[in-house]
Amino acid sequence: METIRASIIGFGAVGQGVAKVLLQKANYLKDIGIDLRVIAIVDSKGADIDTEGIDLSAALSRKRTDGRVGPNNITGLEVIRTIDHDLMIETTPTNIETGGVGLENMLAAFENGRDVVTSNKGPLALKYRELAEASRISGSTFRFEATVGGAMPIINLITDVLAGNNIISIEGILNGTCNYILTRMMDERASYEQMLAEAQELGIAETDPTYDVEGIDAACKLVILANAIFGMDATYKDVEVTGITKITPESLILAEDGGYVIKLICEVKKDLIRVAPKLVPNGHPLAVGGTLNVASVQTDLAGTVTITGRGAGSIETASAILSDIISIYRK
Ligand code: HSE
Repeated sequence: METIRASIIGFGAVGQGVAKVLLQKANYLKDIGIDLRVIAIVDSKGADIDTEGIDLSAALSRKRTDGRVGPNNITGLEVIRTIDHDLMIETTPTNIETGGVGLENMLAAFENGRDVVTSNKGPLALKYRELAEASRISGSTFRFEATVGGAMPIINLITDVLAGNNIISIEGILNGTCNYILTRMMDERASYEQMLAEAQELGIAETDPTYDVEGIDAACKLVILANAIFGMDATYKDVEVTGITKITPESLILAEDGGYVIKLICEVKKDLIRVAPKLVPNGHPLAVGGTLNVASVQTDLAGTVTITGRGAGSIETASAILSDIISIYRK
């Protein structure tokens, strides 16, 4: 059995979700030949290091009671540079202005020959080409299914399951907060402000929800697809973006009277990367409600394949991270 030594850098909702699913799936991982040991966990207040493998239950309970994972003062970058391990799981909070610490962590991991699995979309929405090149040069594997659509398996679906198909376009909903707001405004005739507050309470909105409602979060995810699937070299600033802030209750009612819903639709195809509200007919595959994400992938061989799933959430995002880990190390 292969022993994989991993670090978890960032121990908020997603990092803790990863620890929980690794505990829950420990026997399954062993059954498929993966002995995964977490040798370092770092959060913003401290770190826990055990080169024999951290007790993940104890780490989770320390985080709950003390508000930090451990007393060690080592930073994520120091762990990545100085402690020997195979895989860096990067789950620090995203920064879409500069790429933030996540970008530094990923580049350092590649420089040190470590594989990277991440849910952190900011660095990829800004510096995809640089990261992909760094991973190629170091011979490390770079997987980022969790950056787009949470548990909805869009990237691996296209690159693995639909391998060989030409991808003509991808169209869908990639922001759960906007979908929640629009769905509830229509169904409950509720106000925009009230629904935004509810989305924040559900824990799905970004720390600054402007990124959700202005369409920027959706643009970041779309640009990751544009780069990873269509081979573009774009940043989220290249996306034509209109958010949902100007959609009035009256326009939603008018749409409903005509048999439509209004959705914040992301579209990528040759020469087009766009996020904008669109009328979608009731019953159309993209007319999913609540916090769901959805994507229709138009291909040359398989026709159109549509998937839907939960685009946010700690365990849901950890599910995508786990599947990336398994696909790297399963023999
Ligand atoms: N704020 C994001 C959303 C979270 O609402 O979809 C998942 O990336």
